[in-house]
Amino acid sequence: MSTARSLTIRRPDDWHLHLRDGAMLQAVLPSTSANFGRAIIMPNLVPPVVTGADAQAYKERIEAAIPEGHDFTPLMTLYLTENTDADDLAAAAQSGLISAVKLYPAGATTNSASGVRDFDKVSNVLERMAEIGLPLLVHGEVTDHDVDIFDREAVFIDRILDPLRRRFPELKVVMEHITTEEGVNYARDGGDNLAATITTHHLIINRNNILVGGIKPDYYCLPVAKREKHRLALRAAATSGSPKFFTGTDSAPHTQANKLCACGCAGIFTAINSMSCLAHVFEEDGALDKLEAFSSLNGPAFYGMAPNEQRITLVRDDAPVEFPRQIWTEDGPVTIFDPGFDLFWKVEQ
Ligand code: DOR
Ligand code: ZN
Repeated sequence: MSTARSLTIRRPDDWHLHLRDGAMLQAVLPSTSANFGRAIIMPNLVPPVVTGADAQAYKERIEAAIPEGHDFTPLMTLYLTENTDADDLAAAAQSGLISAVKLYPAGATTNSASGVRDFDKVSNVLERMAEIGLPLLVHGEVTDHDVDIFDREAVFIDRILDPLRRRFPELKVVMEHITTEEGVNYARDGGDNLAATITTHHLIINRNNILVGGIKPDYYCLPVAKREKHRLALRAAATSGSPKFFTGTDSAPHTQANKLCACGCAGIFTAINSMSCLAHVFEEDGALDKLEAFSSLNGPAFYGMAPNEQRITLVRDDAPVEFPRQIWTEDGPVTIFDPGFDLFWKVEQ
């Protein structure tokens, strides 16, 4: 006898997504557009998306890759550099082309070499963003060699983010993919201009998953997963229903060849099973009634957008849902996030 249950919620959005370009874009976009109404598209292409013209061209390539019948809107971002032109950025925001600007500290992660080293060089841009209400999406890790990789988020909050927010109190800031209790506390206590995204995988794995019993490159991402107490803080934040926290999967596809090698890339591909994982996590924490807030309501509210009108239905069955282990792309296979347990929730298509 089946104990199938179902949950109908507003169609979710993904407020932090890597789609890449070319063959990879073609291969991964359908996993997102099947389940999510909108996504904030990360601009860390090679070369990065830095001007309004870059964003327009990339948006057109994404739109051309949306499968027939999928209702999906890419929300474009610009990659902040020390040479970003405030007028170009403001024009892109005012025309509705871009929804946010991404700050990568130079060298913090994949394709971040063009990021910011000297924050004084971007102060005119940040001032302009504060004026026009354009959110700054922050990769919150310092890159100093003397700071331990597990401490880089907490140190970033103290040394960079807090001073920056004091200097630009009107600036809307999203702390992207927070991974620590310190991140949760700072976002929670930070006033209405501050929110945070939480990835699917950081709700599920801690650093043991990467390192115990042999190294598991498929669980390596940045910011790197931290110890268990931090995962629990992230779970409590996500499932609390607080409007400060919302979905940003940070689904970040890399080919198997680029993950399983001597210097493997950071990134976990979760687009395909994120909603199943999230339903599992929220059910486990007795918070299924908060899933809609996290995945479909809090994000648009922070960005000043209406939630999606469409609904999705998640169905829970007795038999595990079968996801493939990998998807195939012209560049090579991409491994799908393995949560380490069976999933029973599935988005009804
Ligand atoms: O794990 C990550 N992968 N973290 C990032 O910040 C970048 C991303 C990517 O682009 O692969
Ligand atoms: Zn990312």
